[in-house]
Amino acid sequence: MSVTDPQPPAPGAGADAAQEALHDRIAADSLTTRRDYLRIVATVSGGLAVGGVAVASGILHRHGDGDGAPEPKRIADRIMPGESLAFRYPGDEDRAIAVRMEDGTLAGYSAVCTHLACAVLWRKERGSEGELYCPCHEGIFDARTGEVTAGPPPRGLPKVILIEQVDGSVWAIGTARSGESLREGLCRQQGDDLRLCRVQQAAGEGSERA
Ligand code: FES
Repeated sequence: MSVTDPQPPAPGAGADAAQEALHDRIAADSLTTRRDYLRIVATVSGGLAVGGVAVASGILHRHGDGDGAPEPKRIADRIMPGESLAFRYPGDEDRAIAVRMEDGTLAGYSAVCTHLACAVLWRKERGSEGELYCPCHEGIFDARTGEVTAGPPPRGLPKVILIEQVDGSVWAIGTARSGESLREGLCRQQGDDLRLCRVQQAAGEGSERA
C-alpha cells in the first residue's frame, strides 16, 4: 500500500465520530434550552412588571369604577354567621366577597387584591373575627374594615355596600373605593355633594355618641 492510499478507519473511529456528533447535539440542545428558558423568564417577569405598573397606575379596571350608581343585586337568600359568599358585583367581571362575622356584622368587599389583583379569600378561623387573605404574597385585610393589616397590598379593599331585607335576603346596592366610607361611596355614585355627605356623616356620628 502506498502512502497516498486512503487509510482504513482505525478500529473504534466510527464510535468516536458518533459520540462527537452526540456531544454536538447535546450542546446545541442545551443552548436552545437555555435560550428558551431565558426567554420564558424574561416574558414572565416582563408580564409581572407590566401588570404591577398597570395596577399601581390604575390602568386596569378598578372595582366599581363605572359611571353612576350600579343596579341593586340580590346576592343571597341568607348569609349565616361565620359564612362567606363569593359573588360578582357591580359588573359580571367584578369579583366580590361577602362575610358574616360571628357577631352578625355583614361586610362586603372587592375580592381583587390591591397589590397585584390575585383573588382574596376568607379565612374564618384566623384571629377573633377571621380575616381576608391573599395567598399570592400573604396580603391580609381586616374583615371588619377592609384595611391592610399585613403584607404588600398598598391600600385597603374597596367595599361592596350590602343591605339585608326583613326576609333575610342580602342585596348589594353600591360600592365604595379604598379609604371611602360606605356613605361617601353611596353619595359619589348617586351624584350627591360629597362634602355635604361628609358633614352629614360627621353629624350622624356625633349624635350617636351623644
Ligand atoms: S397580589 Fe395580593 S398580596 Fe400580592
